[in-house]
Amino acid sequence: MTLELKPSNGPNNSGPFARFSVRMKFMMQPGGLGADGSSGSADIIDGKAHGDGVRRKVRDKVEKMKAAYGVTPGLAVVLVGNDPSSEIYVRSKCKLAVDAGMNSLEFRLPADSTAEELLELIGRLNRDPEVHGILVQLPLPPHLSSTLVINSIDPMKDVDGFHVSNVGMVGTGQDAIVPCTPLGCMMMLRHYHPDLRGKTALVIGHSNVVGKPMARLLLNADCTVLVAHKSSTNIPQLARLADIVVVAAGVPGLVKADWIKPGATVIDVGITRVPAPEKGVQEDGSVKTRIVGDVDFENVRRVAGAITPVPGGVGPMTIACLLANTLSACCHLHGIDDASLQLE
Ligand code: GUN
Repeated sequence: MTLELKPSNGPNNSGPFARFSVRMKFMMQPGGLGADGSSGSADIIDGKAHGDGVRRKVRDKVEKMKAAYGVTPGLAVVLVGNDPSSEIYVRSKCKLAVDAGMNSLEFRLPADSTAEELLELIGRLNRDPEVHGILVQLPLPPHLSSTLVINSIDPMKDVDGFHVSNVGMVGTGQDAIVPCTPLGCMMMLRHYHPDLRGKTALVIGHSNVVGKPMARLLLNADCTVLVAHKSSTNIPQLARLADIVVVAAGVPGLVKADWIKPGATVIDVGITRVPAPEKGVQEDGSVKTRIVGDVDFENVRRVAGAITPVPGGVGPMTIACLLANTLSACCHLHGIDDASLQLE
């Protein structure tokens, strides 16, 4: 795998919103967990192995950056309130940033924080030269506007790629900070489809975090892109046309085997916690739970050519891409040409 962090260039990419692009090419074996190689059984795309590979590469580059430039990338993660899932995600992001050799700063604000308090913190982080990436964990408590908050982050430190200027640049095919989950999906897709041109891709779900940026990236790669969502009435028919299905709907088991074109690549972004009585009970007596995706995995894997499992598919790639975006933002803010960090 190579990981290139290239400075933007060209007239459309100069000025305050010039960006590094994160481009990663994989050279990994198809199949992973459990692929039995028999006909009618999809390659299982091992997101953990892909993510580990990216994180290793980032860690090596961070080490080189420290030695050559005396600069340590810094990631600031802000959590407002105490949503249990968000707490788990934030802990994991901070821990993996440290594992990659970065400085990790965690800020916790109470759930009843005002917009002014949150914006004041973001302003401080924007001005802090030691901070290269800022992430405000979503969802925010309902009284806070995520649009206002996200757009108050310096776009050059917006390692989520959610700021309107990054969204606009990706939408117009310019190098920009790309949202982590869609970036991870693209990296895994490119392993199976080094040339995505002309492929028909269906994205199910049109959130700002996954569906919309995913559709834009696929379009930038010259796919024919279909986007379905909760008001779509013909999703099975659309899916049967698709060489690639990316689903981020939050509906467990939504995608059925008879929707899938034989040999298609299926990327499952869904993460839903459901009761798992077969696992027994927890210490407090409540039923144990498990994470499931949006794809009827056991049946779809008999038809698809390649498929991501849940867990162990897209999830590990998302945090790996967050680290890659932070390194890229740091290079850009310090005017460091990533080529000088080449390891080979
Ligand atoms: N909540 C769920 N996914 C994400 C993400 O990718 N970024 C942020 N900031 N919050 C999230």
